[in-house]
Amino acid sequence: MLSRRALILALLFVFCEIHAKDVQECEHVAHQNYVCREIENFEQLCHYIQADWQNIKVINEHTAIENDDEPLPKLSTLRQLDLSQSGGLTLGRRGFSDFTSLQRLNLSHCQLEELQAKQFDNNAALISLDVSHNDLLRVERDLLRQMPNLVHANFSNNLIANVEMDAFKDLKYLEFLDLTTNEQENITLGSNANLRYLSISNNNIKNFKWCRLRGLPQLQELHLHSNWLEVLDASIFNVLPQLRVLNVSNNNIYEIQRNLFGGPGPDRTPLLRLLDYSSNNVKVLDNQVFSRLQQLETLNLWFNQISMISPTAFRGLVNLQSLQLQGNKICVLPDEVFANLTALQLLDLSKNNIRQLGANVFGSWVLRKLSYLDLSNNHIEELHPLALSSLPFLQQLRLRRNKLISLDIRMIAPLRRLRVLTLSENHLMELDQDLLTCLDKLTELEIHNNRLTFLPALEEPLLSQLRRISIEGNPWQCPCLDELTNWLHTNQVNYARAASGYFSGRKPLCIVTPMEHCVRDLQLVRAHGFVESYEQI
Ligand SMILES: *[C@@H]1O[C@H](CO)[C@@H](O)[C@H](O)[C@H]1NC(C)=O
Ligand SMILES: *[C@@H]1O[C@H](CO)[C@@H](O)[C@H](O)[C@H]1NC(C)=O
Ligand SMILES: *[C@@H]1O[C@H](CO)[C@@H](O)[C@H](O)[C@H]1NC(C)=O
Ligand SMILES: *[C@@H]1O[C@H](CO)[C@@H](O)[C@H](O)[C@H]1NC(C)=O
Ligand SMILES: *[C@@H]1O[C@H](CO)[C@@H](O)[C@H](O)[C@H]1NC(C)=O
Repeated sequence: MLSRRALILALLFVFCEIHAKDVQECEHVAHQNYVCREIENFEQLCHYIQADWQNIKVINEHTAIENDDEPLPKLSTLRQLDLSQSGGLTLGRRGFSDFTSLQRLNLSHCQLEELQAKQFDNNAALISLDVSHNDLLRVERDLLRQMPNLVHANFSNNLIANVEMDAFKDLKYLEFLDLTTNEQENITLGSNANLRYLSISNNNIKNFKWCRLRGLPQLQELHLHSNWLEVLDASIFNVLPQLRVLNVSNNNIYEIQRNLFGGPGPDRTPLLRLLDYSSNNVKVLDNQVFSRLQQLETLNLWFNQISMISPTAFRGLVNLQSLQLQGNKICVLPDEVFANLTALQLLDLSKNNIRQLGANVFGSWVLRKLSYLDLSNNHIEELHPLALSSLPFLQQLRLRRNKLISLDIRMIAPLRRLRVLTLSENHLMELDQDLLTCLDKLTELEIHNNRLTFLPALEEPLLSQLRRISIEGNPWQCPCLDELTNWLHTNQVNYARAASGYFSGRKPLCIVTPMEHCVRDLQLVRAHGFVESYEQI
């Protein structure tokens, strides 16, 4: 006898089957574009197809799809077929042989374990093949020979350990090849005359030499991130003279050799624009290590172990726009290390161990493009009054979470374009009137968690552009805080941050003092021990 539960399941099953049959249909979604539902095999698809249908997407919720062994000539008119939501594909002997005009085929998420050459007889029109998210184990030359006009091939997210040597060699038009997230240990794909984009990221590649990529003379973009690379050998541009983007992020590379950037000949400048070396184990940046990369615009070096930087490490990077060094172990920045980086727009030095910033770190030439400087999460106690004198075009200066006791007016005064200034989580006791006068373009100011007990009386035109400020976590004298918040309300400056405990009443926003007015005198504040009394709460 059937148990009650089995009976319900059986009924449910029958219901679903009927339901599935009920909704089988094709609907027109755009010009020559159709979505067909609950299609079990290519013969059913054939039954719907009209002569002018070009693109079909199959969406199955209750069934998978399989092909038949009978010829289905009506399929020969289709240009695009998307089976990525077909619920799984079982390919018989004929495979896609009847789709003789097919240009784009999406087999993503089809639970395929293999593709055979004979299943792609007659698919010479194919220009895009997406077989991502399947269980393929290998890529063979015979298969790809059936698709001589392929431009775009996506094999990502499979279990591919073996790519047959020269598998892609005969594909004269291939530009994009994605082998991300597979199981390759060695790069064996051999040559291809036209390939522009190659990703072998997130595989198991360990032993690697550039010569493995010899035979890809047009390669412009190479992604090798998230492998097990430890060393990159010399002269990359001898092998890949057209390379513009190189991503080797998230490997175990422990050095950047100066001769890495050799080639493609002594008088030809490498074309590299983007170099992503983030999340590796690089410890040292040597003399002039990047000096040949005159076209480089983006250099990502975050989350390495960099503690030593040569004063000439960035020499020659005349087109560099973005330099990201956050999350390293930098203690000292040598004089002139960023000098003459005249194209630089963004510099991130946060999350290091920097203790001080000297007068000459940015050199004496004005860096007119530099608008964003992040020095937060360091141990900076002292900024030389002239440290930022080459950066009058800064718009954002981030100094959050350091050990600053005071800010020198000589440092701030030249920064007339500053819009965002973060000073929170420092030890600042005072921001004086002259300093605030210089910040007349400021729209955002963070000063929470310092040792401020008062601000100067905020009269016009002080901070006239301010839109947002964070103030909590300071030992404000209550009368001073009242004045401040009144001013903030009047000027419609946002200051309450709901996520912070201070505004929900869990932590005090100010201290009650014996005085009824706001004491704006640091000596008196010290004498009364306001800061200390707040810190004991
Ligand atoms: C294939 O289908 C998947 C899922 O629907 C989609 O994300 C992907 O972009 C498609 N591939 C191409 C090349 O259009
Ligand atoms: C390949 O497919 C994956 C997964 O659908 C997608 O994220 C990736 O962008 C595709 N690659 C290319 C080069 O289009
Ligand atoms: C990868 O190459 C190395 C060195 O050439 C070799 O020892 C290793 O067996 C190769 N691995 C595979 C899976 O072919
Ligand atoms: C490089 O790869 C990392 C993954 O490790 C990725 O997060 C990053 O966006 C990639 N960079 C570029 C420029 O594509
Ligand atoms: C910066 O450029 C100027 C002018 O070309 C030159 O005199 C100076 O030596 C350079 N400084 C550095 C550190 O490269």
